[in-house]
Amino acid sequence: MAGKKTTARPRNLIRGRFARGRLPEVEAFTASLPFDRRLYHHDILGSIAHARMLARVGLIRRSEAQAIERTLREIEGEIDSGRFRFDIADEDIHLAIERRLIAKIGDCGRKLHTARSRNDQVALDLRLYLRDQLKEIEGLIRALRAALIRVARRNTETVMPGYTHLQRAQPVSLAHHLLAYVEMLDRDRERFAQALARTEVMPLGAGALAGTTLPIDRRMVARELGFKRIALNSMDAVSDRDFVLDFLAAAAILAVHLSRMSEELILWTSSEFGFAILPDEFSTGSSMMPQKKNPDLAELIRGKTGRVIGDLVAMLTTLKGLPLAYNSDLQEDKERVFDALDTIKPALDLMAKLWGALRFDRAAMRRAAGGFALATDLAEYLVARGMPFREAHEVIGALVRETAESGRPFEQRTLDDLRRHSPAFKEDAVTLLTAENSLARRTVAGGPSPQTVRKRLKELGR
Ligand code: ARG
Repeated sequence: MAGKKTTARPRNLIRGRFARGRLPEVEAFTASLPFDRRLYHHDILGSIAHARMLARVGLIRRSEAQAIERTLREIEGEIDSGRFRFDIADEDIHLAIERRLIAKIGDCGRKLHTARSRNDQVALDLRLYLRDQLKEIEGLIRALRAALIRVARRNTETVMPGYTHLQRAQPVSLAHHLLAYVEMLDRDRERFAQALARTEVMPLGAGALAGTTLPIDRRMVARELGFKRIALNSMDAVSDRDFVLDFLAAAAILAVHLSRMSEELILWTSSEFGFAILPDEFSTGSSMMPQKKNPDLAELIRGKTGRVIGDLVAMLTTLKGLPLAYNSDLQEDKERVFDALDTIKPALDLMAKLWGALRFDRAAMRRAAGGFALATDLAEYLVARGMPFREAHEVIGALVRETAESGRPFEQRTLDDLRRHSPAFKEDAVTLLTAENSLARRTVAGGPSPQTVRKRLKELGR
């Protein structure tokens, strides 16, 4: 029995206690429908699980639950295909869908909201939505990680300078440099996985804030929706947005990583560095300067980091003064979540494509990796022959100063030059003076030698 059909379409489902309607400007200002319609699929998913449970515990008939489910799927089809007529008077997606349900099946539709409030409903919808999004993000991070690993595999012997203070420091390999990003991304994956664990908690049944007197089965709803846990305090269930903060914090840290990566791409593709060549497909021209090939994509990934950090700070600020339990301030959560998602998802995707398309100038990297970048190696040579490190530091410091003053390349210092600074230098010291040797000997765990990096690549998998 699907109940009687009502033809009269109520303007609003929840204004029984009011004599007059809202001011149109109030309606427009307070509505979340313009943005929360993105939750429609998950709202329907949650309502179907709720209706099945209501039937199971005997609060509605099985036939009513079936009619509700069938009609909700029709409504989903209407929204999917753009046929659904949204009306700002509905306030939000929850009331928009419920109003349509009632318009289609009447009294039976009026039973859906039994033992439910929009407060627990919206918490559920956002959790369901974010759960799917977090799984997508995991895939996008994996793809970027795989793109970096592919480039790294081909470049374990590609010598380049590592920098501290943006001054050439010691030779590393391109592979080692890229695998530093992979480590960052793996920590990001961990953070998103933790956010997912805190998101997968089922709040429905909390009602407005104090549960319900009706005999519902919250565990059944959780099972239906694939949640292992239910929220264990009804007031916390409707006011908790920690899972949103967890997501936004993970997103902000990821965005910072992508920003640092972007900054290096911008440096590497500049004429000053010349380490990498920006593919045309990823570059923009200048409206005035015909020669320009600008790294806009990387600049904007760097630039958009500001808004993701902003999303986190905005949400923290929204939450900090809220008394328990639900407050309308919480409605601000969704745009922060959507904005962060809309920023990091394409950034991850494009960054993966960019690394796949980048070409490298290995000779330019190699040229930059010689010279004084080898000074520490010589100091360590002396240490290996018994000299205290501080003394070796001083000896090599003097050698560097003399070489700098002479204007000769550091690599071309002869054994005699070295021995003038310390008799501890023997024949083999001169062979040390190449970036390749320096790299090959850095076999310490976590170090940049090709051998160590190949081992790490094996552990990292694909
Ligand atoms: N549109 C609201 C939100 O996004 C749904 C919950 C509204 N509850 C309420 N009592 N106003 O948070």
